Amino acid sequence: METANEIKSEAPMEILFVDDEVNVLHSLRRLFMDEDYEILVANSGEEALEILKVNSQIGLIVSDQRMPGLTGVDFLEQAKEIVPDALRILLTGYADINAVADAINRGGAYRYVTKPWKDEELLQVIGEAAQHYSLRKENKRLNEIVKKQNLELKNWNSQLEFFVQEQTLEIQKKNKELEGLNENLKRNFKNSIRAFSSLLELRDRKTGSHSKNVAEFSVKIARDMNLPEKDRETITVAALLHDIGKIGIPDALLLRDFDDMDKGAKKEFMLHSVRGQAAVDSVEDLRPAGILIRHHHEWLNGHGYPDGLSGGKIPIGARIIAVADFIDNTIRELDRDGAFEIALDKVRNWLGTRFDSQLYPHIEKEIKGVYSKILPQGKIRMLEVELNVNDIKEGMILSRDVNSGTGLILLSRGTILNTKSILALRRYYQLDPSRTGIFVAVER
Ligand SMILES: [Fe+2]
Ligand SMILES: [Fe+2]
Repeated sequence: METANEIKSEAPMEILFVDDEVNVLHSLRRLFMDEDYEILVANSGEEALEILKVNSQIGLIVSDQRMPGLTGVDFLEQAKEIVPDALRILLTGYADINAVADAINRGGAYRYVTKPWKDEELLQVIGEAAQHYSLRKENKRLNEIVKKQNLELKNWNSQLEFFVQEQTLEIQKKNKELEGLNENLKRNFKNSIRAFSSLLELRDRKTGSHSKNVAEFSVKIARDMNLPEKDRETITVAALLHDIGKIGIPDALLLRDFDDMDKGAKKEFMLHSVRGQAAVDSVEDLRPAGILIRHHHEWLNGHGYPDGLSGGKIPIGARIIAVADFIDNTIRELDRDGAFEIALDKVRNWLGTRFDSQLYPHIEKEIKGVYSKILPQGKIRMLEVELNVNDIKEGMILSRDVNSGTGLILLSRGTILNTKSILALRRYYQLDPSRTGIFVAVER
């Protein structure tokens, strides 16, 4: 980039004198002989114009007013068009005040000098004009540099802006990709928990799709209570895995009813909530759910286990899972029409002692959505038909649990089929084909 401090090679200023009298031109040449100017002369305005056309670097024009042909004013006016930057001075007689005014107004004259001139005065005027001219020229040069630098800055700025925009786009793109990956991870994590929960149920066949039901019911209650989404997710996970600690309990014990167990067996069984928390503790994301798993058998009055917490000290998620767990167990044991009415009745009796009363309105509101779809075995007022997995359709109701070939419960009795579950079933039937078809209820 050019800078203002750059060294300029300063050529002497060129001055053009115009006068029809040769003597005048001679004396002017003589006067400026020792000065550092380049002198050009012309005998008429017309000749001077020709000279200007090929000498655009002329800095000062000094013209007589009274000349045959073009007058000084007319000449200066035309000269202004050819070399607009040159300074113009008019030489004129005393009486010619009109010519002076014209020279200034039309010819853009910088000064006028009266004839006959005093040498010192003319030298001084020309000297000042030369200084003025070179200052103006320098000013112009500096302005050009500033303009050029501004333009370069502007270019840099727009380039910078472009780079910033490009980078922002790149970052946004990467963020989107990360978001996508994150979503994938989350989905995989959730699917893994569901798969794991199904595996648990595979072992404890007595409970069927217990964890799934408890999860569905708990999350409905939580949503009805307007609990934040994060809490609802934790509750879902905890409900799906609430009995994971039963993995450590021997099969023989697991098949017995809690009330029929002796003291030692009960003690062993009661360890499952703490073991459950310990089992998930190594996965950091599962720790909040682990806390709910630990406390899903606490009672509101502090008579529950493992820690005997009471009231608000029991996490709300654990209070919800506790009641959903109780209701699902009760309904499954009864396995008949109106089972959920009886379950509700039992819950009402435990309000304030075992269960949290503030949950009851939400339980009452949501219970039908979870359990009315379950058709008690032997009480079906509908015909049951066995269909090939490729023949099931949306809206059909399962009349039996659907198990995979190796016994995994895929969907529970009462489920209403939708596109997603149908696709999942078809996929399972390819991977792990069941020996039976799918039993659905049709009206008699
Ligand atoms: Fe439990
Ligand atoms: Fe349970």
